[in-house]
Amino acid sequence: MKAATLDITTAARDGHYAVGAFNVFDYVSMKAVISAAARLHSPAIIQISARTAKAIGPVLIAQMFSDLAARVDVPLALHLDHCPDVQLISDVIDAGWQSVLFDASHLGFDEARQLTRAVVAKAHPRGVAVESEIENILGVEDGVGSNEARHAYSVEQLVETARYTHTDLLAPQLGTAHGLYTSDPVLHPERVTEIRALTDMPIVLHGGTGLSAAEFRAFIGAGVSKINISTQIKRSYMSAALADLGSAREAERWEPLPVFDAVAEAVSAAVEPLLRVFAGKAV
Ligand code: 13P
Repeated sequence: MKAATLDITTAARDGHYAVGAFNVFDYVSMKAVISAAARLHSPAIIQISARTAKAIGPVLIAQMFSDLAARVDVPLALHLDHCPDVQLISDVIDAGWQSVLFDASHLGFDEARQLTRAVVAKAHPRGVAVESEIENILGVEDGVGSNEARHAYSVEQLVETARYTHTDLLAPQLGTAHGLYTSDPVLHPERVTEIRALTDMPIVLHGGTGLSAAEFRAFIGAGVSKINISTQIKRSYMSAALADLGSAREAERWEPLPVFDAVAEAVSAAVEPLLRVFAGKAV
């Protein structure tokens, strides 16, 4: 069932677990994540990159989501991932999505604050929650972001900015990066503890692909309430499609539907262990 992003994430915060936010790319992967969440009786956030939102269209995505969410009884929200584009955010608000990440990490401190505040002022009257990112999470996610560290602020600056802008969820830099890790990241769960001492706003961990269960637990123990996973879903999706297409070619089987089944199975299989870890259960 459809639920507000803030309700899902504050319940996670109060229950000392995290809700998974999984990037999906089409109906097949969206359905696979929602089925996995329903099987495990777990809330989840369906996350869409700005590139995917533009490719499919915010209205069609909202329709697919509404249809699938209505069939299950776990709380689900539709969320726009990293978006610096204010027009796309408006379109998503009009289409009835539950939340957006306004990515202001490419801007200087003052401009980031002003624009984030303006986005929140547009979103809140429509019941849409805003996640804010003013430091940059390393790595490029679907064409948005940078491999260079651009801004780093004190936790006091982050929290004061979140208050000033009336942001709902906060995405600080915690040592993680988008994409695959080529060397061990230096993680900063202690930063979560420091932020939680100043605010009870739900905190978001980006760059979840490649972290171990123990690393997730350290972040959840410190107070992270939403964990983003994208690359792992992409890899599961593409590997399953590649394998199925390979066997289809060998067998001269020119049928698209088995490819979708293989992709759905692989995406669900990638998501289920993560949902267990995020819920605090043994994998
Ligand atoms: P990964 O691609 O590393 O899983 O990161 C996902 C993410 O943070 C999306 O915002």
